Amino acid sequence: MQSFINEVDFFKGNDPRDLLEQYGSPLYVYNEDIIRGNLRRLEGLITKYPYTTNYSMKANSNLSLLKIALEEGLNCDAMSEGEIRLLQKAGYPNDRIFYVPNNVSEEELSFAVENNIMTSLDSIDQLELYGKINRGGRCAVRLNPGVGAGHHDKVITAGKNTKFAITDDQLDELFLVADKYDLKIAGINQHIGSLFMDPAPFLQAVTNLLEMAKRFDKLDFIDFGGGYGVPYHKVSEDERSFDFDSFEKEFEKLLDKFVSEAGYTPLFKTEPGRYAFCEGGVLLGSVNAVKYNAGRKFAGTDIGMNILARPTLYGSWHDIEVIRDGKVVLDNRENITVTGNICESGDIIANDRELPLIKTGDIVCVLDAGAYGYAMASNYNCRLRPAEVLIESQGNVRVIRRRDTFEDLFRNFEV
Ligand SMILES: Cc1ncc(COP(=O)(O)O)c(C=O)c1O
Repeated sequence: MQSFINEVDFFKGNDPRDLLEQYGSPLYVYNEDIIRGNLRRLEGLITKYPYTTNYSMKANSNLSLLKIALEEGLNCDAMSEGEIRLLQKAGYPNDRIFYVPNNVSEEELSFAVENNIMTSLDSIDQLELYGKINRGGRCAVRLNPGVGAGHHDKVITAGKNTKFAITDDQLDELFLVADKYDLKIAGINQHIGSLFMDPAPFLQAVTNLLEMAKRFDKLDFIDFGGGYGVPYHKVSEDERSFDFDSFEKEFEKLLDKFVSEAGYTPLFKTEPGRYAFCEGGVLLGSVNAVKYNAGRKFAGTDIGMNILARPTLYGSWHDIEVIRDGKVVLDNRENITVTGNICESGDIIANDRELPLIKTGDIVCVLDAGAYGYAMASNYNCRLRPAEVLIESQGNVRVIRRRDTFEDLFRNFEV
């Protein structure tokens, strides 16, 4: 693919330069059609059995996007009281929120109990705490199926090297604590990690979790977590999308086996975050300076690591397109390092990357920025977080979060 934004008509006739002039640079831009298409794909993943998709809102917690996920029929999972409150604000009823916290206070767990929100406990200790708060209640537990996967060590959340979940050898203790507080374990869940394109580890984890499920009394639901990958190299390497069709077939075979062996059909769930919004979001920024240091060429943009943390945090790759005079530039390729405006040497979006020749005044468009983009943005270096706009089906542009102001930055100081 030469250009993703051309291929999908990402801006629907809007000139990126006009968008930056109107809403400020940098700017997160979302395309509603792409988002709805991806949400529908997720929602229809398993058709043979009772199934729901819980969107994992940590990936993108914009209120308007949460409302779109609700309209498309998704439920959500939340990691914190703040996320629960935001989902409630977006209109999610409490029975469509699944709370999957780790290491939280009694106060935070009590908030979920008072709101009647199904909660999954991530350790025996937290199960004990939950039992004290809600004796006789219904809850879930997060299990470690022994297999992890993900694009970076930091996002692998199962297997031997992780802080998350309860392992196989702790199940006896888990049952004792549940008995002690008369808790009904209504569901189990797992999340093995974030971003896999090869479904093999996920399917292995499904197999393992379903084996562990047999040790529980009849469960209302089994949740297999998220992690479906997005092709971040779609322009640079023609990387293909995650193959949901063959994945669904393999997945259903495992569910068939469980249903016939266990003799009942629980509600099955998954909880993807990234896949829902990633490709439907791009990040536009301005090239403020071009320079050479020790023979290396740098393009200095206003997309700092505070705006998009993934490249600095994980060394993640995002394809970049260059826009000049309203058109995607495709020729005159050369090696260049694209950086932000933060006072850190690690503030790099693309390191020594072959890209079309970049000039001062160009616009860079960072692809696949809709997940773990704004959600991880900060005010580091006292920089303002950008606005977010949504391009609706007919091409109208709607602001779905305004840009920070300097008043926002100073609001919490006490002197
Ligand atoms: C418990 C849990 N569920 C779901 C997700 C969503 O993962 P992804 O965005 O990779 O689909 C995460 C992300 O880390 C998670 O921690």
